[in-house]
Amino acid sequence: MSPSTDAPAGWVNPLRDPRDRRLPRIAGSAGLVIFGVTGDLSKKKLIPAVYDLANRGLLPPGFALVGFGRRRWTHAEFAAFARESAREGCRTPFRDDVWERLAEGLRFVTGSFDDDAGFDALAAQLTALETERGTGGNYAFYLSIPPDDFPTVCRHLERTGCARATDLSWRRVVIEKPFGHDLASARELNEVVAAVFPEDSVFRIDHYLGKETVQNILALRFANQLFEPVWNGNHVDHVQITMAEDIGLGGRAGYYDGIGAARDVIQNHLIQLMALVAMEEPTDFSASALRAEKIKVLESTSLALPIAETTARGQYAGGWQGSEQVVGLKEEEGYDPASTTETFAALTLEVHNRRWAGVPFYLRTGKRLGRRVTEIAVVFRRAPHLPFDATMTEELGKNALVIRVQPDEGVTLRFGSKVPGTAMEVRDVNMDFAYGEAFTESSPEAYERLILDVLLGEPSLFPVSREVELSWELLDPVLEQWAVSGPPEQYQSGTWGPRGADEMLARSGRTWRRP
Ligand code: BG6
Repeated sequence: MSPSTDAPAGWVNPLRDPRDRRLPRIAGSAGLVIFGVTGDLSKKKLIPAVYDLANRGLLPPGFALVGFGRRRWTHAEFAAFARESAREGCRTPFRDDVWERLAEGLRFVTGSFDDDAGFDALAAQLTALETERGTGGNYAFYLSIPPDDFPTVCRHLERTGCARATDLSWRRVVIEKPFGHDLASARELNEVVAAVFPEDSVFRIDHYLGKETVQNILALRFANQLFEPVWNGNHVDHVQITMAEDIGLGGRAGYYDGIGAARDVIQNHLIQLMALVAMEEPTDFSASALRAEKIKVLESTSLALPIAETTARGQYAGGWQGSEQVVGLKEEEGYDPASTTETFAALTLEVHNRRWAGVPFYLRTGKRLGRRVTEIAVVFRRAPHLPFDATMTEELGKNALVIRVQPDEGVTLRFGSKVPGTAMEVRDVNMDFAYGEAFTESSPEAYERLILDVLLGEPSLFPVSREVELSWELLDPVLEQWAVSGPPEQYQSGTWGPRGADEMLARSGRTWRRP
């Protein structure tokens, strides 16, 4: 029976309906050029993500991956390096046949960032790839390089015509954080990039937005009736956003010393998480509607004051991480023994609108903490009246909805329940949803999703310059104050951070969760 004759009125065949979002999204003809291709990010995340996309059949048949760097590598030498990176970092099984097909489109161009000849060679290589691989002249330039090099690279891309789109082809630029080190430098960077690439061709990567569990914040809030009615200051006491890591910073001195935890992750990942939790419902899930809501809520957000009481920072000292004895930051290779770089940072934000007036948002992050966990806990007020004796509810805390971003992805609802027995005793219990149990398919890596979005020209998960600037506006006063208030407090590795962080919450009678 043909659906066109027997289907109910208004029925659309989902296999034919172009609006059906369940169809896999496959990138059209394109190439990806990576600057900083021999760096850590490229080796551990970008190249494996490209392989995983190829393995899932989401790249076009003539895809090209071009590495640009100082090494005098042949295409084959680059391919060998990329194969090793893909094999070590891939999420899906490594298959030789998939790799061989991908490797046909691998190229390497030798050059330094201030070298005309290197960029001329790159331009020639990209033109050649149009016929060799059928890239259609569509290229994304991934700048996995220090921001100080952005101006030079952008200038060369402009000079050689690499940045120029035509009516039939696109050119995009992907920028990795840090987007500057304060508001002024972020503005300068935005101007440098904007002089070469129009804003709709600029994709600023915040890889947290590529995580499934982060996108699930929107599903949880806006696809359900259960949560949104209580998602406000009438019911919510406060929100805690935690990004804790157990790793230290050995080997990352070049990037991290002088940057610190607040610039490294609060300015981007944690403030983005906060915006998704606090924003209003967008009119739809288009990039412009989502960004408009994030911008609106960030414009309503300010730092709680005084900074000395509403923030905390620390630096890890030696200690034990599980059964491993570890050194403090100052003893890590490459760090200045007098370094005042913070490895733990916490601050308090307030959102000045009807929904959130009076509800503090506490953000904290740290290295060498008790364990690796990122979570968002929406902590509710106590019930206005408890018809029990105080002894019956001694072990009852506040209700909480916890979005477990990683590593144990899911959602936990914490509420009070009667303890079995003859007495009326109420204690907290957890009700859990775990991704691993509810779904059979494993989540793609954030970079898989984001690289595919770049190739598809889908900008929803990429912050715009205004969001970046608003985040710096929140952070700048904290950084200025910390810069003149002496060295950060030391905390022992393997603990949950400096005493100052506990004192910060204790001032309002609250405590941090111990995830
Ligand atoms: C990066 C930070 O953005 O995120 C790192 O620069 C941090 O310092 C990393 O370790 C954590 O990412 P994830 O996805 O492992 O939580």
